[in-house]
Amino acid sequence: MTDVSGKRILLGITGGIAAYKAAELTRLFVKAGADVRVVMTEAACRFITPATLQALSGQPVHTDMWDTRVPDSMGHIELSRDRDIIVVAPATTDFLAKVANGLGDDLLSALCLARRCPLMVAPAMNVEMWQNAATQRNVERLRADGVGILGPTEGDHADREGGMGRMLEPGEIFAEVAAALGPKALTKKKVLITAGPTYEPIDTVRGVTNQSSGKMGYAVAQAAVEAGAEVTLVSGATVLAAPAGVERVDVITARDMHKAVMARAKQADVFISVAAVADYHPVDPKPHKIKRGNGNLKLELALNPDILGEVAALAKGPFCVGFAAETEDLNANAQAKRKKKRIPLLAANLAQETFGKDTNALTLFDEDGVHELPRAPKIVLARQLIEHIAKMLPQR
Ligand code: C5P
Repeated sequence: MTDVSGKRILLGITGGIAAYKAAELTRLFVKAGADVRVVMTEAACRFITPATLQALSGQPVHTDMWDTRVPDSMGHIELSRDRDIIVVAPATTDFLAKVANGLGDDLLSALCLARRCPLMVAPAMNVEMWQNAATQRNVERLRADGVGILGPTEGDHADREGGMGRMLEPGEIFAEVAAALGPKALTKKKVLITAGPTYEPIDTVRGVTNQSSGKMGYAVAQAAVEAGAEVTLVSGATVLAAPAGVERVDVITARDMHKAVMARAKQADVFISVAAVADYHPVDPKPHKIKRGNGNLKLELALNPDILGEVAALAKGPFCVGFAAETEDLNANAQAKRKKKRIPLLAANLAQETFGKDTNALTLFDEDGVHELPRAPKIVLARQLIEHIAKMLPQR
């Protein structure tokens, strides 16, 4: 999914020091055969000159709402009309605030308001600006409006302070945009995904849970939406926001998750079981807080349903994909698990390498053998997994 040739991209550049990286991004798009039109804010022109972008894109660069080169001075409409996507990199906190609130007081923000195509933004700012409550509010609003948020990431900043807020590298932005514009491998497919931990109450304030953050499952949900699927995400308790376009069903216990999944499994084309489901639950959860006693306390645990196993056993059920988080002997355990659960595909990872992390490495096991997906951000791995599933689907 890395072909942008023939795609019409409007690249917006706003005023941050990362603006110099927009030159490299322009070069990558142009080299891959895209038609790139650049629009810069006044502040962006303080960091990098329009002449540089003009030379790299091979097209006039626009900076002004009242440009007489554009017919009828309707630049904000005309420039975005024939575009497949608007990408803004870097996007300052000020620019995010404008778009989140529907302001259009310069050419780039007006173009975003008047667009008919998707919009993706790559925020870049120092860590305090990124963590500021107003910025986070604006980012959440943009996400809810369907705007693609690319990064930011952690690392060195021009202010030498470091921390979250660094813009993604041009190559990473290119890959995200290419994925968004790429062929849709799962159009019209219904994909059911589980994610996150389950929580099994011991009493009213305590419970048995695990360290799953939900990040991998949410990334798989996002990749499936990008691939054109209709996605339902059955999620245990996490702090994550559901990707735009995903129907989310919140559950707490493994038995809740089992009920939510079984009610939807027959209608699904694909079931991807990413959740870390508890295998046991306390038999007799107390309806009050258990008081400390003098001796040990025995907790009796009963077996939970095997959700993936049950879905895999359905007649005419969906194509099933399991996840296995192992702590050792990854290959032997994973292949055995795939056969025991009778599923066509299993993605295995090391628990210590994935729980709570933003990156992961996956090993896929299917009838053909073993496929290694080397360490990468979870969204990158999720897209590779979805591509693999899409290739296996017609063989059913
Ligand atoms: O925990 P385990 O490694 O056995 O999980 C393997 C797969 O089975 C995962 O995809 C997990 O979501 C699923 N599972 C399940 N119900 C359980 C336990 C695990 O669906 N009770």
